[in-house]
This record gives sequence, structure tokens and C-alpha cells, in this order.
Amino acid sequence: MGLMASNSFGKILTITTWGESHGPAIGVVIDGCPAGLPLTVEVIDRALAKRAPGRHALTSPRREADRAQILSGVFEGYTTGTPITIAIANTDANSNAYLPIKDILRPGHANYSYLQKYGIYDWRGGGRASARETACRVAAGAVAQLILDCCGITAIAYLQQVGSVTTTPSHDLQLLRSSIDNSALFCPNIDDEMAIASAIAEAKECGDSIGGVVAFITSPLPVGLGDPIYEKLEARMAYAMMGLPASKGFEIGEGFAVASMRGSAHNDSFSCSSNGKPAMTTNHSGGTLGGISNGMPLYGRVAFKPAASIKIPQATTTLTGNATTLEMAENFRHDPCVAVRAVPVVEAMVTLVLADALLMQCSSNLKKHTESKHARHTIDATHQY
Ligand SMILES: Cc1cc2nc3c(=O)[nH]c(=O)nc-3n(C[C@H](O)[C@H](O)[C@H](O)COP(=O)(O)O)c2cc1C
Repeated sequence: MGLMASNSFGKILTITTWGESHGPAIGVVIDGCPAGLPLTVEVIDRALAKRAPGRHALTSPRREADRAQILSGVFEGYTTGTPITIAIANTDANSNAYLPIKDILRPGHANYSYLQKYGIYDWRGGGRASARETACRVAAGAVAQLILDCCGITAIAYLQQVGSVTTTPSHDLQLLRSSIDNSALFCPNIDDEMAIASAIAEAKECGDSIGGVVAFITSPLPVGLGDPIYEKLEARMAYAMMGLPASKGFEIGEGFAVASMRGSAHNDSFSCSSNGKPAMTTNHSGGTLGGISNGMPLYGRVAFKPAASIKIPQATTTLTGNATTLEMAENFRHDPCVAVRAVPVVEAMVTLVLADALLMQCSSNLKKHTESKHARHTIDATHQY
């Protein structure tokens, strides 16, 4: 019998998520959050609204209110340093839609491996394998952002690619933030957003799904986040991202493109900035050296596979091994492109990893590290990436 004991994430700032897609509620327990941070339900609800389904005709039509309830860890609007428990009710689950397929193996989904491992599977909405769980990560990310606010760190994720359509973002983080906040598909460029919407719509009309890439970028980080060797900052990011449902690839900096580069092109040179401090002139590495943040923005990408749920009939078997065809009902609710709704989730995971790394770096003296916007050893960083 298997043990499902891997529902927690983080070292000092830890999160433990709980709940299934069609259970009464889902939620998260956040431990290790410093006291005194201003936290309200509204802060969490604002973050949840970005991830919620039904935001756009090209995302799942499931309509969840996604209202957070803070059950512990906050008093008079401030964190108390004790575990923060957040519950989110499931209000729009339609388990009946899953009845006709409950005894069928779903290609690309998790029921086969869950069943083999545990001998039992909550088929309602994919149970624990449903991306509904990622709402908990987004709620926790909103709390983690309060920690990053102490150091003026921001993290932004955006939709960079769907199918073969790509987009190039502004290098100005404020512009990037506002363009994404104004885009229902989290796309930084309105023209590209239309091309991306067409690509998703075309796949959807065919009864199919389509893959995509979510990119992330942070403001220049304080030098020193991340620990060699097994806890390198990019290793923690990779771990966080590859733990997301449907993620199939992770890159930091130039990523796989380094394979076709030369050292002379890839090395980030140092130069003296106007204030006499060393500064890097490029950021091919993606913001880390030796697994430790180097004062530059951290940036990378996560590739998401096309959603397993498609309307095109698929050859498969029943749970007992009889050949059959999986046909999703016309009203079956799913995301034709999971990368869209993964954007706020990737952003939350970046935030959680950085907040945890920050606490690891300065837990002995948080005050010292938060007095200035940047940590003591921060060097000047250009915004090139
Ligand atoms: C935000 C988000 C929404 C998702 N929505 C769907 C969906 O509607 N249908 C589906 O088949 N998979 C969806 N997924 C992916 C499945 O949860 C995932 O593929 C499944 O749990 C199997 O895990 P794996 O792809 O990591 O192997 C979504 C993933 C994310 C991140």
C-alpha cells in the first residue's frame, strides 16, 4: 500500500496543501511565515481571481467563487507567526460529468498511475491530480509575496508561447506587469494575444488541446539567495515547476539554447558601474552563479503539455483491461490550453521559492536584511535578459 506523504513544499516557509477537486473544500497550511505581515482575505482572493477558471472563453468554464477563508495564523489583520490555514470551498463541482468515464483509463491523465500506486482513486474531477490543487499554491504565493515585499522583490509570470505562436515581453517590469494584468490570457502583447487566442480556439474547435510556455522574470534579486550544492536556486525553481501538473520542461536563463552557444557569447561580463560597484552587462545565466543569486533578475521558462482532456475520441482500455474508446461528453469542462491558467501558478511558485530562500538567507536577522530595499551585498544590475 502506498503512502501519499508528499503534500508539503519548502524548507523554512513550508506549505502543505490538502483537498480534492470535488471534495467540499481545498486548502493550505502555511508554516514559517514571520509575524507582523499585513494579511487579509482580500489579498488572497485577488490572487485567486487570476487563477480561477471561467475567466475567459478559452479556459475551463467551471465557475468557482474561489473565496478564501483564513482559519488561523492571522490576528487583527497581521500574521502572528503561527501556522496560517486557508480554506477554499469547492462550489461548482459537477461529479456527474465524470461518471461515464470513471472506469476508463484516461490517456495523459493520472488515474492509471494513481490506481496502480494506491489501489484507490477519487475519479471526481481528477481528485488530487486535478489542477484545482494549484489554487492552494496561489493562495500561499500571496502570503509569500508579503515576505518578498519586505525586500522590494517582485516576480512576474506571463504566457510566452502557445503552439508555434510566441510573444516578446517588455523589459520594463512595470510595463510588463500592467500589460499582463490587462490581458485575460496573461499575454504581454495585445497583437500576440490575438494570435495566441486564435491558436487555442482552433485547437478547441478541433476538439483538441494545445501546449504552451510560461515565462517568469523577477526584479534584481539580493545577492546570496540559494545554497550550493543540492539547494541551488535554479534547482529549487526546477523542483517547484516540475511539481506542477502538466509541466514537462524547465529552463533557466538561456536554457537549452546554451548548447549552441560559445563561452564568449554566454559569459556575463562584469564592468564598473557609475557608483563604483561591479555590475553585469548581460544576464545569459538567468540570475544565478554557482546556484546563488548574483544580483540580476532571475528568469526562466516552464513548458506545459497540451491538456489530457480532449473531445477527440481516444483508444484506451477500461480499468480491467478491456479495449474501449474514451469519448468526453460535449459539456465536459476542461482547459484547452493549461499554460494560460498556469501563469498565476508559476508566479506563485517563483514567489514561494524566493520567499523561502530569503528566509533561509536571513532568518537569523530578518530586520537587518529588510532595512534597505536590497540586501547588503547587492550589486547593480541591468535589466537585460
Ligand atoms: C492550471 C492548470 C489547469 C489544468 N486543467 C486541466 C484540464 O482542464 N484538463 C486536463 O486534462 N488537465 C488539466 N491540467 C493538467 C492535469 O492536472 C495533469 O495533466 C494531470 O494531473 C496529470 O499530471 P501530469 O500531466 O503532470 O503527468 C491542468 C493543469 C494546470 C496547471
